[in-house]
Amino acid sequence: MSFLKYDLFSSKFYMNVGGQQIRKGTVFGMLLSILIVGLASTYFIYILYQYFTNGIEPNYREQSFITQQKIDIELKNNLVGFRFEYDVNKSIQQLEAEKNKKYMVFIALFFYFDNDFYQNIQLDIFECTDENLIGFYCLDYSKVSNYTLTLSTIDNIQSQIQVFSYGCLDLDQLKTTIPDNCATQSEIDAIANGINAGQRMKFYTSQYNVTSQKTQINYRNSFVYSIASQYILSTYSAQKQITSIKEGFFVQSQSKFTSPIQYNLQNQVFDRQQALTNIGEGPFIQISVDNG
Ligand SMILES: *[C@@H]1O[C@H](CO)[C@@H](O)[C@H](O)[C@H]1NC(C)=O
Ligand SMILES: *[C@@H]1O[C@H](CO)[C@@H](O)[C@H](O)[C@H]1NC(C)=O
Ligand SMILES: *[C@@H]1O[C@H](CO)[C@@H](O)[C@H](O)[C@H]1NC(C)=O
Repeated sequence: MSFLKYDLFSSKFYMNVGGQQIRKGTVFGMLLSILIVGLASTYFIYILYQYFTNGIEPNYREQSFITQQKIDIELKNNLVGFRFEYDVNKSIQQLEAEKNKKYMVFIALFFYFDNDFYQNIQLDIFECTDENLIGFYCLDYSKVSNYTLTLSTIDNIQSQIQVFSYGCLDLDQLKTTIPDNCATQSEIDAIANGINAGQRMKFYTSQYNVTSQKTQINYRNSFVYSIASQYILSTYSAQKQITSIKEGFFVQSQSKFTSPIQYNLQNQVFDRQQALTNIGEGPFIQISVDNG
């Protein structure tokens, strides 16, 4: 009889004697109760197991953002990597070291404008240290540490990273000096005209990996072919993504991060000699990265 007190469905009734309130269970009620408690505990243990073996997907949401308000992308040293390749997977640095002469010179600028003024700040170029960018050049943003890659359509503010790839002997408004150990112009032109020659770009992206439940960094690859007679202007517009994540078992924590996720490319091609004469700028390739 005492087991019947485990019946969750026991009904109340009044004994006439003494007016005491007691509960009366039934065997059916008791079995039903054991079944329900058993099922609930098993399900709880199952969920707990799933949680600890990473079987429960966290709740996450990704959103690409287009707005007229200000959008900023943080300038990190590993945001953009680049190198000139004279053949498939062969960097110009390798050839320059081999031949002991220079073919290409890179100049990088940070360009900022708003309604009142614009400004060009030259950025230092260094060999990337990020393990994903070994053999590539990166940009040092320490001179522009109070800036971001920014776009505000409403306030007419924009900034841009610009990388110019010049032949060693070129001279224009921006490239005003010639290194001592340049190759000849015909050797340089032959390199720029190589069938697989051009500039390889790597662009930082990060996204949330549901399986590992971590932010995962990947690089987008892009390649711009060169031809000696042309000035190729490639503009990459970064698209930013906002990810919010809710995870945790008993207590859910919420986190949020933003990262560039996509880089849309627009190419323009000018005659190099004409650009030099008319605009005073004549690199082989100009890469511009903005926040579109
Ligand atoms: C490119 O060359 C490097 C060595 O310079 C090599 O480690 C790498 O595997 C090559 N990549 C491809 C895709 O061939
Ligand atoms: C960044 O700092 C420089 C020098 O202090 C200043 O001239 C410039 O206006 C600042 N830019 C922004 C966007 O705050
Ligand atoms: C997510 O992370 C897991 C474990 O680290 C890995 O096996 C998987 O390839 C990653 N997913 C993607 C899409 O890279």
